[in-house]
Amino acid sequence: MKYTSFGKTGIRVSRLCLGMMSFGNQQAWHLEIEDAKPIVKKALDLGINFFDTADVYSAGRSEEITGELLSDYRDDVVIATKVFFPIEGFTAEASPNRSGLSRYHVFRAIKASLERLKMEYVDLYQIHRLDKSVSPEELMRTLNYLIESGSVLHIGASSMFTWQLAKLQWVADKLGLEPFSSMQNHYNLVYREEEREMIPFCIDQNMAIIPWSPLARGFLTGKYSRGIQPKSVRAKSDPFLEKRYFKDEDFEIVERVKQLSEEKEVSPAQIALAWLFTKSYVTAPVLGATKVEHVEQAVEALDISLSSGDISFLEEPYTPHPIIGHS
Ligand SMILES: NC(=O)c1ccc[n+]([C@@H]2O[C@H](COP(=O)([O-])OP(=O)(O)OC[C@H]3O[C@@H](n4cnc5c(N)ncnc54)[C@H](OP(=O)(O)O)[C@@H]3O)[C@@H](O)[C@H]2O)c1
Repeated sequence: MKYTSFGKTGIRVSRLCLGMMSFGNQQAWHLEIEDAKPIVKKALDLGINFFDTADVYSAGRSEEITGELLSDYRDDVVIATKVFFPIEGFTAEASPNRSGLSRYHVFRAIKASLERLKMEYVDLYQIHRLDKSVSPEELMRTLNYLIESGSVLHIGASSMFTWQLAKLQWVADKLGLEPFSSMQNHYNLVYREEEREMIPFCIDQNMAIIPWSPLARGFLTGKYSRGIQPKSVRAKSDPFLEKRYFKDEDFEIVERVKQLSEEKEVSPAQIALAWLFTKSYVTAPVLGATKVEHVEQAVEALDISLSSGDISFLEEPYTPHPIIGHS
């Protein structure tokens, strides 16, 4: 395994993070603990030390599974979770204080996450989205209180516009508070809008960059074809997969991924990940896995080298996309 610094923090993380959204019971493609266990075990055996969950994943079940499978390894793993979205059963309309980033909710949400994880603290607490109704001052003070009170070691942000992140970091600096250490953003071969503003900003600020859906929810694995109704369990039960990808221009890229994978005798998923690994600014893609071999292949991809010609071949057909993942 290769390890790298997590932004400005002193933490060393594996160059691959295992996303725990696959584990739970909310959608047909989610795996319960018995099936999650060998995947997490394989990740640990291969040196992955970085795991990402959220309170909203399977209404907290993902956090419970994360805690059950990783508590024995607590002093060797980096645990990240998130807050913002309403947990199933509590709509923002009917339960207005059970989501978002108010001090009221965040204070309760971290306690609930720690209880589900059965941990005293998390290493990274991320805001899953920006809550425009909460002032940057309230948000940064609340998150810093969690650091000072020992519930959280570092704080991170997820998908938003660059100017919004810049404002939060500026407010933290103005108040003498700890800024966000990381950005978890939507970034893969078929969605590269982040290269325009967010990634240069994070590089400038020495923030960790941990892309979510690095395989575009499986689209970049080459298992789907133009004009053919997707049949995988995930495609049938993940409402975002077909909606976010599957455009003609996306297929053009996946066809190049497949072509290169045949030439190099590796899988398309490995090419898509190897491309991300060529970007030194990517700290660790947050991989989703539903089989042990997904983790094995992802780790092998760390050793696949792509030439500048290969990279240009994969990148060349990309055209600008509308924003996907935040608004
Ligand atoms: N911050 C955010 O807003 C946000 C949003 C989304 C996700 N996330 C995080 O990102 C993580 C990953 O998200 P994701 O599941 O969408 O990621 P992904 O890595 O883009 O897609 C994962 C899917 O790709 C397929 N796959 C993976 N490796 C494969 C291989 N070697 N061969 C064939 N297929 C392979 C599997 O599909 P099948 O199951 O169909 O086989 C798997 O479910 C989540 O667990 C979560 O932690 C964060």
